[in-house]
Amino acid sequence: MKVLILGSGGREHALAWRTAQSRLVQKLYCAPGSDAIAALAECVALDPCDGLSVAGFCAEKGVDLVIVGPEGPLAAGVADVLRKAAVRVFGPGQAAARLEYSKSFAKRFLTRHRIPTARGRSCATTAEAASAIDSMKGPLVVKADGLAAGKGVRVCADREEAKETVEDFMRLKTLQAAGETVVIEECLCGPELSVLALVDGRTYKLLPHSRDHKRLLDGDKGPNTGGMGAFAPVETSAELEASIRGIFDAVLAGLRADGLDYRGVLYAGLMLTAQGPKVLEFNCRFGDPETQAILPLLDCDLAALCLACAEGRLGPAEFKVRPGACVCVTLASENYPRAPMTGRPITGIEEFPAREDLMLFHAGTARPGGLWTTAGGRVVGVTARAADAAAAKRLAYEGVSRLSFDGMHYRRDIAGEILAIR
Ligand code: AMP
Ligand code: GLY
Repeated sequence: MKVLILGSGGREHALAWRTAQSRLVQKLYCAPGSDAIAALAECVALDPCDGLSVAGFCAEKGVDLVIVGPEGPLAAGVADVLRKAAVRVFGPGQAAARLEYSKSFAKRFLTRHRIPTARGRSCATTAEAASAIDSMKGPLVVKADGLAAGKGVRVCADREEAKETVEDFMRLKTLQAAGETVVIEECLCGPELSVLALVDGRTYKLLPHSRDHKRLLDGDKGPNTGGMGAFAPVETSAELEASIRGIFDAVLAGLRADGLDYRGVLYAGLMLTAQGPKVLEFNCRFGDPETQAILPLLDCDLAALCLACAEGRLGPAEFKVRPGACVCVTLASENYPRAPMTGRPITGIEEFPAREDLMLFHAGTARPGGLWTTAGGRVVGVTARAADAAAAKRLAYEGVSRLSFDGMHYRRDIAGEILAIR
């Protein structure tokens, strides 16, 4: 099989690493890919959001399967263009991807299908937003409707801050078009859980539950980031597992009832409240960095699973998870997440030990003239797999100690908290 992965970050490096191991895969392409991904796949200078160019490339090379990494191409309808051209795609079409790129659409979907979520209202004008803020009790969360690269959600301490946020998003347009509509919702409390499912249109399989560390600093302090690290699995009780399955059953039934054929990963960000799990948000793609902590735990063929989803036959596909745990620590550039400094030489990459249980997933690196340098805010994810989370954590931080670049910073408490939720 010839496979094309769309994207270029740490998640795509992990996807390429796992896909390259597949017995089914004879040739792997990645668009646009990265210098690190180039060791695993042939990188192609294509705009992953340009459906016609991607479809043209697939026709020319005889690509059998496209795996879409980031949300941009999904929101741009690339999966639809490819399906029309009879290319198999792992990733939902534009209509279903709206669950991620429109928070008001997601809120309406959840409410209509009676799926537990925070009470909230979608507001298209500042007047509507002001009245929603005044009508709701307690701390509030203001969310920009559109894609905002992790900057679109503000948990507000009081009404004043909620109104200021509305002003920023709607009047000052600090997030451009993404903030023209907002969702205002009640603030929920509890541990968060990233639940990713492989979906083939009718059935789903849950990947090991994972936990992201979104805040920049130890102890969940500082601003939100794309994710400073992750671990998997997070163990749950049978009762919680049943509630989570109940949510996914209802989401799949809702998608079918709405005529949405969903094939790809469906990621639900859940908050485990005293009233049970509630959906905070959907992503229509693999999480980053959750994927880096999940994929090493799969004991089966990822390309075969993606193909089975694309073809609507996930049910009988082999699906096995390894025992043990995996921890991914993100090394970030100076000034991340504001305006990261790039172009700094990285030491330790060439000498990094090639081991089955210690991996380096490159998120933002480049290798101009043969020298590894930083090329993004999140630089690499050092990922370790071991018999349990404590051992995986030790090994991951041992890996971290082998790398350095000017201004490098990272959290020291990844996998330091709640490893199991009962
Ligand atoms: P997102 O950018 O949509 O991934 O959301 C970012 C983060 O905002 C989530 O991971 C939560 O920590 C927080 N968040 C979103 N919605 C709520 C809510 N209703 N109550 C409390 N926190 C929330
Ligand atoms: N780690 C959160 C996300 O992928 O959106």
